[in-house]
Amino acid sequence: MDKNLDPKLKSEDKEIELSLRPKRLQEFIGQKKLKDQLEVFIEAAKKRGEALDHILFYGPPGLGKTTLAMLLAAEMGSNIKVTSGPALTRAGDLASILTSLKKGDILFIDEVHRLNKMVEETLYSAMEDYVLDIVLGKGPAARSVRLKLQRFTIVAATTRIGLISGPMRDRFGIVQQVDFYEDEKLAEIVKRTAQLLEVKIDEKAALEIAKRSRGTPRVANRLLKRVRDYAQINNDGVISFKESLEALNKLGVDELGLSDADRKYLDVVKKQYGGGPVGVENIAAALTEDVETITDVYEPFLMKKGLIKRTPRGRVIV
Ligand SMILES: Nc1ncnc2c1ncn2[C@@H]1O[C@H](COP(=O)(O)OP(=O)(O)OP(=O)(O)O)[C@@H](O)[C@H]1O
Ligand SMILES: [Mg+2]
Repeated sequence: MDKNLDPKLKSEDKEIELSLRPKRLQEFIGQKKLKDQLEVFIEAAKKRGEALDHILFYGPPGLGKTTLAMLLAAEMGSNIKVTSGPALTRAGDLASILTSLKKGDILFIDEVHRLNKMVEETLYSAMEDYVLDIVLGKGPAARSVRLKLQRFTIVAATTRIGLISGPMRDRFGIVQQVDFYEDEKLAEIVKRTAQLLEVKIDEKAALEIAKRSRGTPRVANRLLKRVRDYAQINNDGVISFKESLEALNKLGVDELGLSDADRKYLDVVKKQYGGGPVGVENIAAALTEDVETITDVYEPFLMKKGLIKRTPRGRVIV
């Protein structure tokens, strides 16, 4: 997909992303309902002097799940350790992390849908009863010992809620969706980022970038940087509405925030498959993308915009 509109994290974004991350929940723009609820959970846990309940965030990439995990730690005043489903390959790795956690600490597990079964099952008793059963030694001499763990909190994130097993999901006291942002909220994010990057931006320019950012803060921040580069070469470093339009058009981003790849997706379904229904595998093949990228990255936004529908027989153009 168009690299500017790809909501997935790229290495060039990493450093800048860290510096742009809101430090407190108050600074986190949008997602009001979600934020209000988290505030209640935080207040309550603090009052009781307890750890937060385990929390699962789900939603498309680049909407702020990792940021929220960091903010929870900041608000609770607790330490946070960060890992991910694919990184936790052995139950032993998980055990050593869990035993190092102190009361109230947070363990953030990104891409939790990619945990392997062994590790996932080890996590069950840890999350539910704060114990860890581990086997020491091998063969007839092997024995199982039970370790007690401190009351910690797992904050997990996934782009694929459908792939989380029932037992896993049930162990999260709080399951929250992170949804696409409204244009007005994204515009606020653009203005905030512009301030941090020390560039001036016109109100209308911020809204224009917002409109074309697939409802996604990560994309908005990336487009802002591209537009800034353009404005700096052309003018005085203030991003005007006119410059933002020129730059965005040059980047091939249209008014709906659709990229070339989105348009190609729609084209394939419309022209090659008569508007559908068509299986996602066929679409993926036509776009030379993997199915996961199609379902996690392209389709959520196209559905949000009401351009396609998922049906039991395949995808259809609306
Ligand atoms: N509500 C927000 N207000 C301000 N900035 C935000 C907000 N949400 C996200 N951002 C910014 O957008 C970027 C992406 O956010 P983040 O890394 O938390 O997304 P994510 O949901 O974890 O994505 P992924 O699923 O790809 O890991 C960060 O730079 C973050 O600072
Ligand atoms: Mg993340």
